[in-house]
Amino acid sequence: MGGAELIGKEEQEAVSEVVGRGVLFRYGFNEKRKNIFKVLDFENQFSKYAGCKYALGVSSGSAAVRVSVAALGIKRGDEVITQSFTFVATVEGVLEAGATPVLTEVDASLNMDPKDLEAKITDKTRAIMPVHMLGVPARMDEILAIARKRNIPVIEDSCQACGSGYKGKKTGTLGALGTYSFDYVKTLTTGEGGMVVTDDKKLYERACEYHDHGHVHNPEVPRGEDPHRATGFNYRMTEIQGAFGLVQLDRLNYVLAEQRKNKGEIKKAIASIPQVQFRDLPDPAGDGGDTLAFFLPDAKVARAFNDYLAKSKVDTKILPSAMNWHFAGHWKHMIQSLPPYRTDAWPKSEALLKRAIALPISVKMSDEQKTRVIDAVLKAAKEVL
Ligand SMILES: Cc1ncc(COP(=O)(O)O)c(C=O)c1O
Repeated sequence: MGGAELIGKEEQEAVSEVVGRGVLFRYGFNEKRKNIFKVLDFENQFSKYAGCKYALGVSSGSAAVRVSVAALGIKRGDEVITQSFTFVATVEGVLEAGATPVLTEVDASLNMDPKDLEAKITDKTRAIMPVHMLGVPARMDEILAIARKRNIPVIEDSCQACGSGYKGKKTGTLGALGTYSFDYVKTLTTGEGGMVVTDDKKLYERACEYHDHGHVHNPEVPRGEDPHRATGFNYRMTEIQGAFGLVQLDRLNYVLAEQRKNKGEIKKAIASIPQVQFRDLPDPAGDGGDTLAFFLPDAKVARAFNDYLAKSKVDTKILPSAMNWHFAGHWKHMIQSLPPYRTDAWPKSEALLKRAIALPISVKMSDEQKTRVIDAVLKAAKEVL
C-alpha cells in the first residue's frame, strides 16, 4: 500500500497550511500566497531525489504518460512500443495521442523482453516505453542499447516504481523521459498525482506547455497574455497535492526500506519451497520491495494455490487478482481496431502470467502479519504442490 499507510499529522498540517493561504492553483497570485509555491517546491525536491534536471508535477500517472508522449511530438501514424503486461494507462496514453501501441512479450522479470522489443521495431517506431512493473526495474541495459542503436527515445513508465533503482540510478531517469504515479496505492501518494522527469530542457519545456493548455509561462507577462506555440490540455497538479507530496517525499526512503525488509523476510521464509521460482530481478538492490512475485509449475497449480491463499484470507496483488486491467490479452475493448491485435498475441507472457502469484508487501507489517502470510504460503505449497 506504500505511503498511504503513513498518512498523518504532517500531511494534515501541510494541507491545512495551503488551505489557510487560500491559493490552490500552482501559478500566479504571488502576493496572496506569500510567494509560496508548493508544486514548484515539490518538483525541485523530487528532481533532487531522483537525480535529474527537471521534474514536472501533473494530475496523475496517466497524465504523466500522456504528457511524455506529447513532449516527444508523437502523433497519428507513429508507433510506440510498450509491453503486454502493464496497467491500461500506459497504452491509453499512446492511444490518446492518436498513435499506435505495439506491445512486446514480457520475460521472467515480468517486464519488457528485449529480444521481442528488437523484433517489433519498425520504421514507424517513435518511442520505446518499458514499464517497471510492481516496483522492479526492467532490463534497462539491453533496452537502452537497442534504443540507442536506432536512435529511438525511451520513456520509462515508472508509475509503479517510484524510488526504485537500476544500477545506481533511479528508475525513470535512465531514458529521455520518466513517469511516476502518486495515486493512492503507490509508494508515494498525493491521492491522485504524478510526475514527469527529464534531463532535456526542450522536452521539459514541451511537457510543461502541453500540461497547461500550451502556456509558454513567460514570467514577463501576465498569464492572460502568455504566448502559445502548440496545443495542450489541462494536466496540472494542485497546490494541495504539492504540499502533500513534499511530506510524502520525506518519507519515501523509509517506505522503501521497510518494504524491502518485509519482503526479504517473507522471501527467505518461502524460498525453501522447491517448486517456487521467484521472478527475475534485473537489479535486486533497486527493487522497491512492494510486491513479491513468483511462478509455480503450471497454470492449474497456480489457480489452486491462489484459491488456497484466498481461503486463508491472504490477498494477492494484480497476479492473479487484477489481470483484466494489466494484461493486453484482455483489452479487446481498447485496441480491437488495431489490425495486429489478437487476444492470443503474447503466448509467452500469458503462459508466465497464468502461473504467477504476487503478494503485496506493506510498510507497516507486524511480525504476526508476516507469519500469517508465510504460514499460508507454506500450507498452500503442502496442499497443492
Ligand atoms: C504502469 C502504470 N502506468 C500508469 C499508471 C497510471 O497512474 P495513475 O493511476 O496515477 O493515473 C499506473 C497506475 O497504476 C500504472 O501502474
